[in-house]
Amino acid sequence: MSLYEMRRNYTLKTLQETDVDPDPMVQFDRWLKEANVSDLPDWVETNAMTLATSDLSGNVTSRIVLLKGLDDGKFWFYTNYRSAKASQIESNPRVSLCFLWQHVQRQVRIEGTISKAPREQSERYFHMRPRDSQFGALVSDQSEVIASRDVLEQKLSELHQTYGTGEIPCPESWGGYAVDPQSIEFWQGRQQRLHDRLQYFRSDSGWKLQRLAP
Ligand SMILES: Cc1cc2nc3c(=O)[nH]c(=O)nc-3n(C[C@H](O)[C@H](O)[C@H](O)COP(=O)(O)O)c2cc1C
Repeated sequence: MSLYEMRRNYTLKTLQETDVDPDPMVQFDRWLKEANVSDLPDWVETNAMTLATSDLSGNVTSRIVLLKGLDDGKFWFYTNYRSAKASQIESNPRVSLCFLWQHVQRQVRIEGTISKAPREQSERYFHMRPRDSQFGALVSDQSEVIASRDVLEQKLSELHQTYGTGEIPCPESWGGYAVDPQSIEFWQGRQQRLHDRLQYFRSDSGWKLQRLAP
C-alpha cells in the first residue's frame, strides 16, 4: 500500500467540554489510565512520550523518553545530565512533550518549563531501577561518540568487577527532570478529520480551557 493510500477514520470516541476535569493533570491521569486497556499488547508503552528541546540558536531535536511520575502537577522523567538533550535544556528550559495513544485515537501535547529533580529523588529512583538499568546508566556517556560497541561491553564488565553484588552509586551525571506545564492539549480523533481538541492554558486565575480547530 502506498503512503498516499494509508489513512484511518477515527470513530472510537468523542471529547466534549463537559467530559473533562477542570484540572488538566487529573484529566491526563484519567486518559493515561484509559490508554492502559486490559488487552493492551505488552510491547505498547503508554508512558512513552516525545520530548522536544531546542537551543537559543534555533536548533530543535526530539526523542522518546519514559514518563516516570506526575507528582506536584509536573511530568517527571530520568536521563543523563550530560546528554545532547540536557545541553539544550541548559540553554533553553522551554520544552514540549507529546504522547500518542493510537489504540484510543488520542494525542496529548504539553508545553512547559523544565527543571532538574531534587538529588535525593533522583538517587531514590535510581536505586529502584533494575540492576542492569543502573549499570547501563554508569556505562553510557549518553550522546557521546564511541569507537564501537566493544567500548560499552568492556566498561560493563569492569563495572561488574568493581561493584559485584554491592550497591551501585547513582552517577552525578544521571537524574530526573520535571516539566511544569503551561499548556496541555487533549486531542481525540473524530470522523471526517473534524477532531476534538481541548487545550488547557495557565492564566492568572488558574487553568482555562479552550477548543481549537482541528
Ligand atoms: C521507548 C523508548 C524509551 C526511552 N526512554 C528513555 C528515557 O526514559 N530516558 C532517556 O534518557 N532516554 C530514553 N530513550 C532513549 C532516547 O530516545 C534517546 O536516544 C537518548 O535519551 C539520547 O537522546 P539525546 O541524544 O537527544 O540526549 C528511550 C528510547 C525509546 C525508544
